[in-house]
Amino acid sequence: MAGRIPDQFIDELLTRTDITDVVSSRISLKKTGQNYSALCPFHNEKSPSFSLNPNKQFYYCFGCGAGGNAISFVMEHDHLDFVEAIETLAKDAGMEVPREQGAPDRYEQNAELLKRLSESAQFYQQQLTQHPDKKKATDYLSKDRGLSGQIAKVFGIGYAPPGWDNLLRAVGTRAESQEQLLIGGMLIEKKDQQGHYYDRFRDRIIFPIRDSRGRVIAFGGRAFGDEKPKYLNSPETPVFHKNQELYGLFEAKQNTPILDQILVVEGYMDVIVLAQHGITNAVATLGTSVNSQHIRKLFKLVSKVVLCFDGDKAGRAAAIRGLEASLPVMQDEKQIRFLFLPDGEDPDSLVRKEGKEAFNKRLEDASSLSHVLFDHARNQVTLNDEEGEAQFARNAMEMIRELPNELTFRSVLIRQLSDQSGIDKETLSKTVFKTRRQTPPQSNPATPQPYDETTPPHHQYDNAPPISHYEDYSPDPQTMETAEYPRTQVPKKPFTKKPFSKGNYHKDAPTLPPAAPSLSRIKQASLCLLLHPHIAQSIDLPDPIINQANDELQFFCKIWRYFVKHPKNNTGNLLGETTDNATLSALYALLNHKDANTKLKIVNASQEVLDMISGLEKNLGLNSSIERLKNKGNESIKDNSSKQELRNLMDLIRRKKS
Ligand code: UTP
Ligand code: MN
Repeated sequence: MAGRIPDQFIDELLTRTDITDVVSSRISLKKTGQNYSALCPFHNEKSPSFSLNPNKQFYYCFGCGAGGNAISFVMEHDHLDFVEAIETLAKDAGMEVPREQGAPDRYEQNAELLKRLSESAQFYQQQLTQHPDKKKATDYLSKDRGLSGQIAKVFGIGYAPPGWDNLLRAVGTRAESQEQLLIGGMLIEKKDQQGHYYDRFRDRIIFPIRDSRGRVIAFGGRAFGDEKPKYLNSPETPVFHKNQELYGLFEAKQNTPILDQILVVEGYMDVIVLAQHGITNAVATLGTSVNSQHIRKLFKLVSKVVLCFDGDKAGRAAAIRGLEASLPVMQDEKQIRFLFLPDGEDPDSLVRKEGKEAFNKRLEDASSLSHVLFDHARNQVTLNDEEGEAQFARNAMEMIRELPNELTFRSVLIRQLSDQSGIDKETLSKTVFKTRRQTPPQSNPATPQPYDETTPPHHQYDNAPPISHYEDYSPDPQTMETAEYPRTQVPKKPFTKKPFSKGNYHKDAPTLPPAAPSLSRIKQASLCLLLHPHIAQSIDLPDPIINQANDELQFFCKIWRYFVKHPKNNTGNLLGETTDNATLSALYALLNHKDANTKLKIVNASQEVLDMISGLEKNLGLNSSIERLKNKGNESIKDNSSKQELRNLMDLIRRKKS
C-alpha cells in the first residue's frame, strides 16, 4: 500500500461517482424539488434536515451541520478514513486505485511519526524504572500524588530525566527519526544551529496522550515543583489537534465494563486518580474548554455526558462555555449534565477525600442542562419586574435557539420557558424560527434551501477559545519554561451577546424574507482562492492581517494556508480533508454562492485578492477602533433593535398579567 493516491484519480473518481447513488444506497432519500431530503444519518432526528444537492454533488444537514461530498459521506457514514473511503468508492465505480511511487502519502508519513512517538513513550516509561534518578519520579507519583504502580502502567506514565538530549540520543538515532521527532513536537531546533535539536520534555513526569484507538499522539509533561509551566504539552502536530482530543478516552473504553456515560474533567491527574478509585470513565480536555467536537465525539460512544467544573467563578464561566458547546450538538435521547465541585476542590482531591461512593452520588445529582441554561439566563438579568422577565426570556431563547430545530427537547425547553415567563409558546417558537433559519418564503420548512449564506451558525463554538493561560507555549526554550500561566486568569466574557432578533414578537407581524446576501470583500477573496487555488502561492499575507481576530479573515487565512502548504492540491482535496463541520459548511456555502460562476471565470483573481488585502492593510487602524466600539455596545443592551425586542416582550407580559 505504498505511495500517495494521485489527485487526478480523486478528481476522476468524484466525476464518475454520483453522490445520489452513494447516499441512497445507504439511507432512504426523498426527492424534494431539485434536491433530496432525508433523516440525517449523523444525528438523531424525527423530521428530515439532511439535504442532498445532486447538481452540486454535496450534502448538508441543517440539524447537525454535517456536510461534504461523496468521499466525506462515506468516511462519516461507514466510519472509514480518507483512503479507505476512496477505495470503497473506487470499487463501486469499478476503478483501481493507483499509487504514485516515491513520495509516501500523508498517512504513511504519519505512520512513521506515530512509531517515533510510541518509541518515545516507551523510552519515558523505561526511565521511570531504570534511570539512576528514578526515585525522584516514583516518589513523586506514589507519595505526593498517591498513585499505584498499576495505574501508572495503565496510563503509561513515564519520566523525562533532566538533560537536553536524552530522547534525542535514544530515539532520534537517525536523521529521519530526528526529523519525525521534530514534526511530532518532541524536539526543538536550536535557534542558532540549524539542524541541531534538543529535547522538549526535560525533568518532568510524562503523560502520553493516546488517540481513541490507543496510539500515542502527544505528551503532557508535569513539572515536579512550581516550575512554569506546570504542564508542558506537545504542540499541534500532524497527528495531534488538542481541540479534538480527549485525554483518557482510550483508557476509559478499555477499562470500563459498560461504558454508557462519560465524565469530562479538567486535568490529567483528575482522570488518573478517578480511575484509580474505580471511576474509569473520566476523560480530560487538553487545556482547552470542552467544545462541540468533543461532545459530538462522546455522543457517538455514550448517551450521557457529565461535564465537571470547579465550584469557583472560573468554573462557572467554563460551565457556560460547556453549555454553549453542547447546545448545537444536543440530540434527543442524549443527556448532558453539569457537576459543580465545592470551591477549591478538583476531582482528584475530592475523590481522595470522599471516596468513590460519595463522588458517584455527586455525579447522580449533577445539574441538568435546562437547569444550567435557565439559571444562566436568570443570572444575566439586570432589570426588575416585567423588564427583568423579558430579559430573562430573551436570554433563555438566545440559548434555546442554538438547539437543533427538530429536537423534542427544544420544545420542552420552550414550554418550560413559556411557563416561567408568561410568554406563550408560539410567540417564543416563532421568534426562534425567524432568527435561526431565515428560510426564504417560498420554501417549505421541512426542506430548507441548503448551502446558502444564511446557514445557521450551529458550530460557532466548535473552536471554542482556549483557556488562555494554557495556550501557545513559545517553542523558544528561554520563554517557554519561564512564562507565567496564572491559574486564575479566565476569559471575562464567556457569553457574547448577540442581538436577539430584528423582527418583533407580535404574532401577526409579517415575516420578511432576508435580502439575497451579497458577499463581503473578504468572502469574495476567499471564493477566488477556492476557485483559483494556484494564486495562493503568489500572495503574501502580512502578520497584522493574519493576527486579526475576525472570523471571516481567519477563514480566508485558513484557505490560503492550506493551498500554500499543498500547492498541488485542489479544492476537492481541501473539502475532503476538512473535518471541522463549521469550516466545511462555510466552504460549501461559499462555493454555492451565486457569485461563484462569475468568480470562476475571472482572469484577474489574484489581483482581486491582493486588492482586498491592501484594503485591509489601510483599514487596520480603523477596523480595530470599530471593533472596540462594537464590543463596548455589546456589554449591555444598548442597540435599538434589542431595546425594541425588550419592549415588545414586556408589552406581552403586561398584557398576559392584566
Ligand atoms: P490544573 O492547573 O487545574 O492542574 O490544570 P491539575 O490538573 O489540578 O494538576 P495537578 O493536580 O496540580 O497536577 C488542569 C489541566 O490544564 C492543563 C493540563 O491539561 C492540566 O491537566 N494545563 C494546566 C496545562 O496544559 N498547562 C499548565 O501549565 C497548567
Ligand atoms: Mn489537581
